[in-house]
Amino acid sequence: MATGSMYRVGVLGHGAIGSVVAEQLAAGTVHGAQLEGVILRRPQAGLEHEQLSWEAALERCDLVVECAGQQALRENAVCILASGVDLLASSMGALADPEFAAQVQAAGPGRLSSTAGAIGGLDLLGAAARMGGIDQVLVTTRKLPAILVQPWMDAQLRGELEQAAGPVEVFRGPAAAAAQDFPKSLNVAAAVALAVGDWDAVTARLIADPEAGLTEHRIEARGPAGEYSFSIKNHPSPRNPRTSGIVPWALLHSIRQAAAARR
Ligand SMILES: NC(=O)c1ccc[n+]([C@@H]2O[C@H](COP(=O)([O-])OP(=O)(O)OC[C@H]3O[C@@H](n4cnc5c(N)ncnc54)[C@H](O)[C@@H]3O)[C@@H](O)[C@H]2O)c1
Repeated sequence: MATGSMYRVGVLGHGAIGSVVAEQLAAGTVHGAQLEGVILRRPQAGLEHEQLSWEAALERCDLVVECAGQQALRENAVCILASGVDLLASSMGALADPEFAAQVQAAGPGRLSSTAGAIGGLDLLGAAARMGGIDQVLVTTRKLPAILVQPWMDAQLRGELEQAAGPVEVFRGPAAAAAQDFPKSLNVAAAVALAVGDWDAVTARLIADPEAGLTEHRIEARGPAGEYSFSIKNHPSPRNPRTSGIVPWALLHSIRQAAAARR
């Protein structure tokens, strides 16, 4: 683990999320934090940032920010944490697998945290869960049909989605199953489940809507503490329509807070 006054950050993945996170860190817009480099699957010509091997990343970084997907998180989380490097995850849907969650929980001394990503209200839901438990949470996500097509879908379902003239319910079920079936689209249900500390309390509903120019998440929760309803509409990232443009900025906000806490 690196030491020093600046919080040194490695960015895992350089797609829609990672490229913005790396760009902003390199530009010095996150007080107290700096870009140490990016960690890629394979070297990329013409990239303006230093490309780190895993060996260099774990030696030089205080924090790795995962912006690379659930599989990349699964493959690297334990090693990162065991090296004493903190890990900030975007793809926390991977934690729906109890075996992986247990491995990560047992790993250290690095610490794992996850981003609020495309949504908000997690602090209030966490407080309500702590006060008296949450009886039920429904997370309804509405996205354009084309971006919800998954490799496991059969031709009929793909066709229904691609030609949908109105809203189609694609999924309704436990948050853990949602995060696994739609790994790039339902990390938000996972974020809610982690905030309330109960995967079984959270039901995810996914609607393919040809009118969904903005990606919408509606979170409805109730329990002894009260009744809550949040509606969030994000513009998709211009670099990847599956991802909301706000997500890298949520990560940058978390990095700034972590850097400040460290001082
Ligand atoms: N929490 C949230 O609200 C939220 C929202 C959107 C996306 N996400 C998560 O963030 C992930 C990234 O989103 P994105 O829009 O940037 O995707 P993207 O496809 O634009 O970019 C992903 C990048 O990661 C790279 N990558 C994949 N596996 C890698 C590995 N093992 N090592 C290094 N690089 C690897 C890819 O080459 C690609 O450049 C998604 O897969 C999703 O799990 C979370």
